Amino acid sequence: MALHPHLATVVSYYDRHPISAEQILEKLALEGIPLAGLAQAALKAYDQDHYGGVAATDVLIERAGIRLEHRVLDVCSGLGGPARYLADRIGCQVIGLDLTESRHLGAIRLTELVGLQDRVRFRQGDAQAMPFAAASFDVAISQEAWLHVPDKRQVVAECARVVRPGGRLAFTDLVAARPMAAARAATVLRAVAADNLASHAEYRAWLAGHGWRILHDEDLTEAWGEVLRQRLQMYRGLESQTIARLGEARFREWDEGYSAFVQAVSERDLGGCRIVAERLAD
Ligand SMILES: C[S@@+](CC[C@H](N)C(=O)[O-])C[C@H]1O[C@@H](n2cnc3c(N)ncnc32)[C@H](O)[C@@H]1O
Repeated sequence: MALHPHLATVVSYYDRHPISAEQILEKLALEGIPLAGLAQAALKAYDQDHYGGVAATDVLIERAGIRLEHRVLDVCSGLGGPARYLADRIGCQVIGLDLTESRHLGAIRLTELVGLQDRVRFRQGDAQAMPFAAASFDVAISQEAWLHVPDKRQVVAECARVVRPGGRLAFTDLVAARPMAAARAATVLRAVAADNLASHAEYRAWLAGHGWRILHDEDLTEAWGEVLRQRLQMYRGLESQTIARLGEARFREWDEGYSAFVQAVSERDLGGCRIVAERLAD
């Protein structure tokens, strides 16, 4: 089956992202944190590529009721930050699935560095066609990733296939809050490497249509306005690292795109959702 052309755009976006495994290791060195014996507790300030850091992952852990005996899937796991945090905090087994090879390899490298490789494993693959058998997991989580996937409904369907009946799905994502002017839509979609964005209502409908019962459903738009302003400052704080790694033009392109994106959220053209659902029996 031919791959959707947008998947190559996503891979290229993450290959040229200001945050990477190499950048994190360099940042730790710059801050005088030794890599030998590095603990996940020290890494967690640098490796979470979503909004709100580990506190946001804590909310998913609580609402999904994740326990030691659970087998958890992190859909679009990036550099593995949430997967490692979860395995370290709860002690459960976690599998992270990600499309982008550089993210996949970076996740393995960082996980070995903190010695969590017995609890956290990674697979490279597309969330629209997951390389897992039916009912393989007790819980699936995902943070700020489905925005990149062309067919988000298919990800909801794949989660329903790989999570066992009675299991849970807990995710957050960027959503379209209202129609945008064409120029802003094009700028924002390019800035976040999205082919399209779902609305909060579409997610609810797709979940219901694929055998999920919604347990918690929140609008995160207001909270994300401030979180994203801080994130823009964090990226600006990486200016010299980003220019040294990716060049001045890429830093400027990133800064311009990210600023437009943050503005679109603060003006409520875009928003955030957090949904937790239970997989109904077949
Ligand atoms: C913003 S990062 C989030 C990473 C992680 N959830 C975290 O919070 O640190 C989004 C990730 O989604 C991955 N991704 C995008 N499209 C994907 C797809 N179709 N299948 C699997 N992973 C995908 C990207 O490669 C990227 O690593």
